[in-house]
Amino acid sequence: MPDNPKLTGAPVRLEGRAKVTGAARYTGDFADETLSAYLHPGETPKKVLYAAAVQSTIPAGRILALHTEAAEQIVGVHAILTHKNAPRLKKARSLMQSELAKYLPLQNDTIHYHGQPIALVIAENSEAANHAITLIYATYAESPAHVDFEANLHKAQPEKKVGSGEAGHKERGHPQHEFNKSEVQIDHIYTTDPTHHNAMEPGATLAHWHAPSKTESIELTCICSTQFVYGDAIFLGEAFDLGMRDGMLRLGLQIGLGAEMSSKVRVAAPLIGGGFGSKGNNSHLALAAMAAKYTGHPVKLVLTRPQTFSMMPYRGGACQRIRLGADSTGRISTLMQEGILQNAETGTFIEPIGEMTSHLYNVPNTLIDHQSVRLNVNATGWMRAPGITPAQFALESALDELADKLAIDPIELRLINYAEKDPDTGKEWSSKKLRECYIAGASAIGWHKRNVETREGEEAIGYGMATAVYPTNHFPSTARLTLNADGTVLVQASAQEIGQGTITTLGVIAAEALGLPLTQVRVEVGDTTLPMAFMAGGSSTSLSVGTAILDAAKKLRKKMTQTQERPLSVKGIAGRTFGRSKYGRAAFGAQFVRVAVNHHTGKIRVTHMAGAFAAGRILNPRTARSQFLGGMVMGLGHALMEQTSLDLTHGAWVNANLGEAHVPTNADIPEITIQMIEEDDSRGSDLGAKGIGEIGITGVAAAIANAVYNATGKRIRSLPITLDKVL
Ligand code: MOS
Repeated sequence: MPDNPKLTGAPVRLEGRAKVTGAARYTGDFADETLSAYLHPGETPKKVLYAAAVQSTIPAGRILALHTEAAEQIVGVHAILTHKNAPRLKKARSLMQSELAKYLPLQNDTIHYHGQPIALVIAENSEAANHAITLIYATYAESPAHVDFEANLHKAQPEKKVGSGEAGHKERGHPQHEFNKSEVQIDHIYTTDPTHHNAMEPGATLAHWHAPSKTESIELTCICSTQFVYGDAIFLGEAFDLGMRDGMLRLGLQIGLGAEMSSKVRVAAPLIGGGFGSKGNNSHLALAAMAAKYTGHPVKLVLTRPQTFSMMPYRGGACQRIRLGADSTGRISTLMQEGILQNAETGTFIEPIGEMTSHLYNVPNTLIDHQSVRLNVNATGWMRAPGITPAQFALESALDELADKLAIDPIELRLINYAEKDPDTGKEWSSKKLRECYIAGASAIGWHKRNVETREGEEAIGYGMATAVYPTNHFPSTARLTLNADGTVLVQASAQEIGQGTITTLGVIAAEALGLPLTQVRVEVGDTTLPMAFMAGGSSTSLSVGTAILDAAKKLRKKMTQTQERPLSVKGIAGRTFGRSKYGRAAFGAQFVRVAVNHHTGKIRVTHMAGAFAAGRILNPRTARSQFLGGMVMGLGHALMEQTSLDLTHGAWVNANLGEAHVPTNADIPEITIQMIEEDDSRGSDLGAKGIGEIGITGVAAAIANAVYNATGKRIRSLPITLDKVL
């Protein structure tokens, strides 16, 4: 990258002011006036209508009758959509692995889960819509339902493909044989409960079908809270039969060619109020678009908080068995991680708990296995570091158990089994400073006080640690740079600003690559009218879109010397760098915590957390720190409080609100030290960056569980670690 000015490294946040002053506009904020920015020239749409969803109250069966008469009488109600009158949708591919790939709303009378949308009221205002839905009820023919994960574990079925297509079962060496003859064995079951993302902004869509136009190709525009505008556009195009078949193929092809995908669907997500994996191809997208088509009005559907639990995905429950075989010096010869994952009848996503298992430590014999139990609940999906979050809880707890059994320091055990190369592929790492992370984290937490400082008044003190890890995802992307006559530069890519600071980070990358001050750069994201970029997921945005920006900057610099023409636009492509690298690529880190556990009440106070991360070049320390911090806070929630519980009779989420689904608040958050270890990843990519959005959550739960063990001698193998488990 060009050398000056040194913008990477400067703590900046371009979109911060708009957010903290309330000027930022999210999907739910759009109404008649603000919709105008998305209209065709000369178009005057009808008034925006408001939709509200009615949900099923049984977990399985058929709708016999839907009683909508009373709701129809409410002043302001325009229409009520049910499976009888709703527009028909075509089976569409879902790039977000959402349940819409398997099940489309309001298409038939079958009920797969409690909370499934069964009707949609469309009214002049949200008050009328929300009143009307309370007057609608259904009569059902119920069928037997399976909603209890634990009770159905024996029905688990093997999964051939998990995550984004990895093998569900993988073996290297002779894991079983080596385990059986191991000197020291660890064999335990670890369980984790379902948890929901609870992004601040609920799922929301404003859909508008444009009046037919001779000059404009876009027929449907959706402003939508989504992590993947192109993914949603492709889904909608296929579902409404607007000629978007083979969307995924076209996406890849178009990125490869550097061309823009012309389309009849536009999806815009100017700002997204958090998602953590939950946003994209959700049913509200299809419902709002159906309602707009049916009524001929723009229609807005904003989910209520309880609906975000049942109409959006979540992290399902998991039951994992870890087996470790080692010798008395701590060398691990066998590592087996087998998971039974909770899923749904309508589910398409199996959480990949084995994604990093065989890459993480220098273990010659490994086994990974995924099975799933399909229940009558809404579909599970991606949630921050899918797979790896529950996997690291189980694996890093088991390592602590092994260290304890061998009386070896937990850091030492990890160093004994340190993977200098990727043990699964034999490839060298593009870079790996995990050792430095252990040292930095241990020093920040005061690891030397472990087993020295054991008590403080009524509280037992404990220290725990775990490894954090996340793969480096480098996806195809494009970006456009335009040099204006006044010397300013416009950066455009369809990347999503989901709260992580992408607007700032992409601006920083462009400014540095062009040798401009950041004030001269403007960034536009979140719209399928912009050059195609991949989703806000897999911690991939900065690296993927950033690489496209670097490519564009190189071309722009060259073109600037050839022509005085302004504005001057060039397109950069990151498609070619996508693919197999000759290096193993991942970000690594270490989580350290200190806890104080009350002898009498069992209350666990995390008093200090220290995370050290080696994640390539840090492009912007302010947004990077927030990502690590947010991940660690979410990890604390996962460890100690987050748990969505099902009513085992009706299959309903019983704590589907922020009063009863506990997440960490400021009072729960201790002092957090974050250290970013300098790392040169130029062998991994030109940008030298790695993903930082998800690694922060990984390892936290195990570090806390290990600290609780260190404090109390109680090994808690199920999350969340509530005080009843400690007492
Ligand atoms: Mo993230 S769970 O890949 O959106």
